[in-house]
Amino acid sequence: MTTIQLGNFRIAYDDLGKGQVILLIHGYPLNRHMWAPQLSELSKSARVLTIDLRGHGESEMVEGTNTMEAMADDCANLLEKLDITQPVILCGLSMGGYISLAFYRKYPQKVSGLVLTATRAAADSQAAKDNRDQAMRTVKESGTTPIAKAMLPRLLSPVSLVNRHQLVTDLEQMMLSISDQTYIRDLSGLKERPDSTGLLSTISQPVLIIHGENDQIIPIDEAMGMHGLLPDSEFIALPDAGHLPNLEQPELFNKAVLRFLSRFHE
Ligand code: MLT
Repeated sequence: MTTIQLGNFRIAYDDLGKGQVILLIHGYPLNRHMWAPQLSELSKSARVLTIDLRGHGESEMVEGTNTMEAMADDCANLLEKLDITQPVILCGLSMGGYISLAFYRKYPQKVSGLVLTATRAAADSQAAKDNRDQAMRTVKESGTTPIAKAMLPRLLSPVSLVNRHQLVTDLEQMMLSISDQTYIRDLSGLKERPDSTGLLSTISQPVLIIHGENDQIIPIDEAMGMHGLLPDSEFIALPDAGHLPNLEQPELFNKAVLRFLSRFHE
């Protein structure tokens, strides 16, 4: 792990391997350690970067809402600081996918491909916005534990919940390590993110969509809908995987990403 100064705050990241750059962007309310099985495996064939988004993991917090655009800027600034000038592949999970789309909206020329995992292009519905408000009230009144405890069983498939005790423990620890303030900043950024559906038809770069068949947080139909709108996309549904297919089916996930990466080898 290394830290680097971006403006007035420090962020933590990992940088492993050589060649085509793939930047892995984690979901809410997690951190870069959710990509452990990818960092070790994909770095045999590519240069893998993982970032702790502002306020998550070992990165410092920044005042104000964690908008998808601000976090996309953090990713762009990290690449710039590392002198990475060639276009990169962005692999974002859930909130990381929203950030990838925000990055593409602003810096399309910096993107060579996208891996959209367990994510959607649509903005929050009114009901989802109301839920975000409720969650922010809960954090202010009772802290993050009730949110993390309620979310944890919804993150995983029934098979993972029964068989993957260590994963459940690690996830709980990751979710509880994030400050109340960061939950609130994320929730308000998630709530106000714009709809990216119209952007999809403009993405000429290759896109790989990976979704768990048992995702309870973002139904698989939404991912299929994105596949229908993207000019050059491949869609992979992983069995016995919920909202975290990279952790629940790491081998299948890595195989799919490695095959996608082979399209970019010079
Ligand atoms: C995530 O996993 O990043 C979140 O579930 C995204 C969301 O709540 O929309």
